[in-house]
Amino acid sequence: MKAVVLCGGEGTRLRPFTYTQAKHLLPVAGKPVVEHALAAVREAGIAEVGIVVGPGVERPFRDRLGDGSHLGLRLEYILQPEPKGLAHAVLCAERFVGDDPFLVYLGDNLLQEGVTGVVDVFCSRNPAAVVSLRRVEDPRRFGVAVIEGGRLVRLVEKPNDPPSDLAIVGAYAFTPLVFQAAREVRPSFRGELELTDCLQWLVDHGHPVLPHEIRGWWQDVGRPEDLLLANRLLLSQIEPRVEGEVDAGSTVEGPVVIEGGARVLGSRLIGPVVIGKEAVVERSTVGPSAAIGPGALVRDATVVDSIVMEGARVAGGGLERSVLGRSVAVMGGGAKVSGAFLGDGSALGLEEGR
Ligand code: G1P
Repeated sequence: MKAVVLCGGEGTRLRPFTYTQAKHLLPVAGKPVVEHALAAVREAGIAEVGIVVGPGVERPFRDRLGDGSHLGLRLEYILQPEPKGLAHAVLCAERFVGDDPFLVYLGDNLLQEGVTGVVDVFCSRNPAAVVSLRRVEDPRRFGVAVIEGGRLVRLVEKPNDPPSDLAIVGAYAFTPLVFQAAREVRPSFRGELELTDCLQWLVDHGHPVLPHEIRGWWQDVGRPEDLLLANRLLLSQIEPRVEGEVDAGSTVEGPVVIEGGARVLGSRLIGPVVIGKEAVVERSTVGPSAAIGPGALVRDATVVDSIVMEGARVAGGGLERSVLGRSVAVMGGGAKVSGAFLGDGSALGLEEGR
């Protein structure tokens, strides 16, 4: 079985971060969103992965993920020339997939239980497709499914009047029959070729489509506040690991990852926390739920429930429920910054010599 991980789309709702970074490469709990997705694919026993990307972003993906060998994967990059929908993205991967069955995983969907379940249902029962579903309170912003006799009978994209509370989660398994469906369906109300409509096409043509209901958490990363939600959820399951330096004047409570070359000096870490490579934390309190990026600096500050990206600096104040882009400078001067979303290179507060 192969996997196709969809990383297209412009991520307009994640501005300002997506002005300068691809959405799926934004860091959450210490690594890019897509790396969490790829780890789940690997865990499901799949090694051959096609990553579908939009125009102009293949370079940063390649720079970060390379050929995938360090993740135990063989990665191929596939261009989706225009953002014409998920089914169009899947069609772009047709040559890569060939005659094999395959997993389709939306690279911005994070799942507590990974994608092993949907793969297992597919492999043990051999249907035309398996769809992951989860009960949600308000299904209107998702695809919604109706099950009868253990099979899917109806699937609707973003219904105003949802026929059930079962939302379609972004992890599916297909046979290559889905390519025929994708060629036959017409663009939806939002002008896109929908996977939801392909699934309905399979059902209407008598091919079995089976559900796989998940019960653990599910978070898609669409808006800046979702980055913080995903950060919290993923940090809650980190495996502690200390490769950097923690001096005798520092204390560490709860699960903490400190990457190589990082230094924690005279500080208090309250897990879950990730401190990236070469980052410096000095005379500060960091955590819970904080991810400090590589080469970042936190000095005389308190950072809680936040993402601080590569090379950013926080000095002399407090930071909470905030996302700081790469090389952002927040010079608090004792003030507390809360709910800030600052794009790459922004500065807040005055810093001498800047
Ligand atoms: C897409 C699918 C939808 C699914 C959702 C899951 O929606 O079209 O059926 O429920 O992903 O994240 P989109 O994110 O494109 O609005």
